[in-house]
Amino acid sequence: MDLDSLKQIILDIESRATSDFDSVNTKSDLDDAYRSFLGKKGEVNILLKSLGSLPQEKRKEAGKILNQLKSTLESGYAQKTISISAQEKQDKLNQQKIDVTLDGFEDLKGSVHPVTQTIKDICDFFERMGFDIESGPEAEIDYYNFEALNVPADHPAKDMHDTFYLNNKGLLRTHTSPVQIRTMEKAKAPHRIICPGKVYRKDSDLTHTPMFHQIEGLVVEEGASFSQLKGLLNDFLEDFFGEAVELRFRPSYFPFTEPSAEADIRWKKNWLEVLGCGMVHPNVLKGVGVDTKKYSGFAFGLGVERMAMLKYDIPDLRAFFDNDIRFLNQF
Ligand code: PHE
Repeated sequence: MDLDSLKQIILDIESRATSDFDSVNTKSDLDDAYRSFLGKKGEVNILLKSLGSLPQEKRKEAGKILNQLKSTLESGYAQKTISISAQEKQDKLNQQKIDVTLDGFEDLKGSVHPVTQTIKDICDFFERMGFDIESGPEAEIDYYNFEALNVPADHPAKDMHDTFYLNNKGLLRTHTSPVQIRTMEKAKAPHRIICPGKVYRKDSDLTHTPMFHQIEGLVVEEGASFSQLKGLLNDFLEDFFGEAVELRFRPSYFPFTEPSAEADIRWKKNWLEVLGCGMVHPNVLKGVGVDTKKYSGFAFGLGVERMAMLKYDIPDLRAFFDNDIRFLNQF
């Protein structure tokens, strides 16, 4: 080999290496190209080894131009390394690009369930009227749910209640009236209590669910009268609906009140029963040791979901228990 053909080869290597470095797009392809020219077994090294075949006086010159080639290729490689990593960074940035014109996410806000809100509204009114809030167990025994409320064993009135019985002779309370008994047991009289809570009956259709909420009211005072009861319920309903409502009392029967009545509210031309009430039966008062010569009492029990249906104009009672977010969001 002579110096001229070496120069030729070097030019050829330089142009191929430059175009190879140019054409790659990834660091690993670039490194492959680098190795094929500048690696241990690369073209440049092979060429270096062949310098021995040159005459002595030409070797120095040949070494010089080969070193030039090396540094040209090294700097080409270094430049390309920089441009590839810059490109990779840019690609990453492009991928992660944030579109600031997109709509944000709205936080879901929780709200009070309409049943809870209705209980609160009702209790608030009665608290303003001097009532205390009381509560009792949902799993009851026959005595509090029936017997102490003047419903003796085998009394047909029990059938009105569609009771869920529990294994251990217990039952799920069918109404909030047991709280009357528990409260008067603790302290005879006087009382003004309001007792919200869950009650259970084997019943399910458009206007009945197996679990629903009742609010029990009980007043035991000297001179408590039916006219007081009527007046109180009238005031309450007006407060609850924010306007006068058409209210109708119908004679009814409950074993624990005498006389008894049911109250209906006019809703879209129909009368809808919302509560039961009456004067507490003397047997109930005597049973818990209240002096019936001194005290009389009246009581009422109202269905919370019924009241909420009327207030919020909801046709199907079951909507309260589906907990569909779209339904609940309206409140
Ligand atoms: N406990 C009765 C019921 O659930 C309602 C009621 C309560 C009636 C208090 C009279 C007095 O049907």
